[in-house]
Amino acid sequence: MVSKSYYDDLDALSDRICEVLIETVKKNRRAAICFATGSSPLLGYRKFVKEVIDNNIDVSGITIIKLDEWCGLDMTNTATCEHFLQQEIIKPLAIRKIKYISFNSKAVDFEEECEKIKSKIEALPCIDLTILGIGKNGHIGLNEPGEFVVPEIHVTDLDAKTKTHSMLYNTSNVSKGITIGFKDILSSKKILFIVTGPEKRIAYEQFLSLNVTTQNPSTFLKLHNNVECIVDNNIS
Ligand code: GLP
Repeated sequence: MVSKSYYDDLDALSDRICEVLIETVKKNRRAAICFATGSSPLLGYRKFVKEVIDNNIDVSGITIIKLDEWCGLDMTNTATCEHFLQQEIIKPLAIRKIKYISFNSKAVDFEEECEKIKSKIEALPCIDLTILGIGKNGHIGLNEPGEFVVPEIHVTDLDAKTKTHSMLYNTSNVSKGITIGFKDILSSKKILFIVTGPEKRIAYEQFLSLNVTTQNPSTFLKLHNNVECIVDNNIS
């Protein structure tokens, strides 16, 4: 089941992101949370971090999972999802290395990297919450539109629209991504699905109107029974 709420501005929507995160870490001190990167959740993450620090909330037991990553960039490159999560979540909350499951953006062998992350996720009791944005083309994580959807963690060829993502503006030759697949996404107890930012209107309209289709991977979220979809009314 997908519940939908509409917000007049990014600030109000981000308050809800923060609230869901706080609820999750308070309910289960050992919660595992999968984090998207990008502009959609950013303000919500900042509010969450502030709330945790201001109120001294114990997050030492939680596990953070990085949803996806661009392949081939150094881990320190400011364009990586790694850099984003390090700056916004891992460092400010002092998350220990052992509590952070993260693809290496410059793995020597990406198939091996997929296996490594798979076994780490399998060792968790569950994923309590997955936070997702939507791509301009309807992608979720880096599960791109195409003839099929790969259920497992996998390496993917980036779609032409994805290559124009703002995170990649100062990079060249990024053509692949590595991502959690729908098997893990749909096994998450709860999904917070954020729709905000420019150029998301068509992808979101398709999400609303289409049946489950690989042409718009976000439609796969309709198979889950606990999706909270939060939408910024200003999507253009
Ligand atoms: C990229 C990111 C995803 C993100 C999506 C939307 O693919 N790797 O994690 O959800 O784009 O990004 P944004 O919120 O910046 O539009």
